Amino acid sequence: MTAKKNKTSFFCTSCGYQSAKWLGKCPGCNEWDCMQEALPDTSSADGYETPQMIAAITELGKTAQPVPLNAINESEQPRQSTKISEFDRVLGGGVVSGSVVLVGGDPGIGKSTLLLQVLDQLSTPQQTTLYVSGEESPGQIKMRSRRMGINNEHLYFLAASGIEEIIKHFRKLKPKALVIDSIQTCHSPEIKSPPGSTSQIRQTAAHLVKIAKLTDTPIFIIGHVTKDGAIAGPKLLEHMVDTVLYFESDTQYPFRILRAVKNRFGSTNEIGVFEMTGSGLVGVDSPSSIFLSERPQNLAGSLVSATIEGSRPILTEIQALVSTAVSGGIPRRTTLGIDRNRATLMIAIIEKRLRLNFSNKDIFLNIVGGLKVVEPAIDLALIAAILSSHLDQVIPTTTLVIGEVGLTGEVRRVNMLEQRLSEALKFGFKKIIVPQGNLSSETTNKSSLKEISTLQELASKLFS
Ligand SMILES: Nc1ncnc2c1ncn2[C@@H]1O[C@H](COP(=O)(O)OP(=O)(O)O)[C@@H](O)[C@H]1O
Ligand SMILES: [Mg+2]
Repeated sequence: MTAKKNKTSFFCTSCGYQSAKWLGKCPGCNEWDCMQEALPDTSSADGYETPQMIAAITELGKTAQPVPLNAINESEQPRQSTKISEFDRVLGGGVVSGSVVLVGGDPGIGKSTLLLQVLDQLSTPQQTTLYVSGEESPGQIKMRSRRMGINNEHLYFLAASGIEEIIKHFRKLKPKALVIDSIQTCHSPEIKSPPGSTSQIRQTAAHLVKIAKLTDTPIFIIGHVTKDGAIAGPKLLEHMVDTVLYFESDTQYPFRILRAVKNRFGSTNEIGVFEMTGSGLVGVDSPSSIFLSERPQNLAGSLVSATIEGSRPILTEIQALVSTAVSGGIPRRTTLGIDRNRATLMIAIIEKRLRLNFSNKDIFLNIVGGLKVVEPAIDLALIAAILSSHLDQVIPTTTLVIGEVGLTGEVRRVNMLEQRLSEALKFGFKKIIVPQGNLSSETTNKSSLKEISTLQELASKLFS
């Protein structure tokens, strides 16, 4: 008789990689010390779904039938505005029916607050919505909604974490939008491993995706981010859902940035900026004003550049600190909000083209306010900030610098210059240094613009 061997296996808590033996480092995501033992799922025939669960979900709506491509109506996916313009913007213009949106972020960042506000906007006499929380009691949610001034009789709340119970109430209430707070507390009885484990997350999310598609209901799933910045089981969840949004902030500031990292129904370049207040999150229409609000006056090492996030120009302050390194040590290159390789490249270009030596200097670079800028259009501003700190010379507060820099020190053109200029002029910048030949015939206010093509020209125009 061959008894079925009850083999244990190991899985990675970060990416879900499975292995027969324990490993110190996960081959899937190269993380250390993240393999956990899991009992095999012996619960059902295919390892995942019980017939009852399949029946419960299938009853929610018609299962799909094959149709000829030509017979499909070409209508756009219907979108519904949440009336929270920063949220709509990140989604690509509103909530798409039947879409599954994962909202990730650190604890305390405001995920529950944001989605309560979104559901409040979506709840009308014609459409009820349901907020399911496995983390907070009805009393706690009530306290929050009272503080936020939300009093909506069409917004329902359910304190539950079992997926079967959630489906049962979903079928009864037929809400037009659903929030699951959070996927880590949600569990399915078919799986033996505890809530929050990879197989639980995969299983419950798979059920939620099916519900969304079968009933055409948008579902928002809240996911906590682990200390290394990834939602537990991120690879599994990210490919299962339609849209992945991350909510981030620099903890010193009250504002929060919502960013799309995946979007089947829109661009991933747009960001939403919110301010956390006592009565909830408030969208910030003019992000430039908050990013520039605490700007120091007349200090060396600080200046402003104009970046593009999605379709919107945003002015940001860039700071550099160049200081003497410990002798004999490796000079430090520390960056916040800027790609470190890009910064190292700019430092090398200054050394070569302007004949300066930073080998005994520590250099720190920072985008103030927690914004992350990846576009090369801030190259010239990085160089200007480093020069200003190194020479201890102040760049006038009303000077703004825009431009990409190539390896030979040439200043290169940037895209969407007109939008950047109009934002800069709106905020009262008087001298704007731009790449030579980048201006179009429609450019107005040419008197404030200084065109340059080399770093030498930058150095000569920057401090006057
Ligand atoms: N009474 C209050 N006044 C102002 N802000 C508050 C108050 N209570 C909570 N907050 C803010 O709300 C945040 C918690 O938001 P929450 O939506 O629960 O976060 P998450 O769901 O991401 O863990 C807190 O970090 C704090 O900034
Ligand atoms: Mg929460």
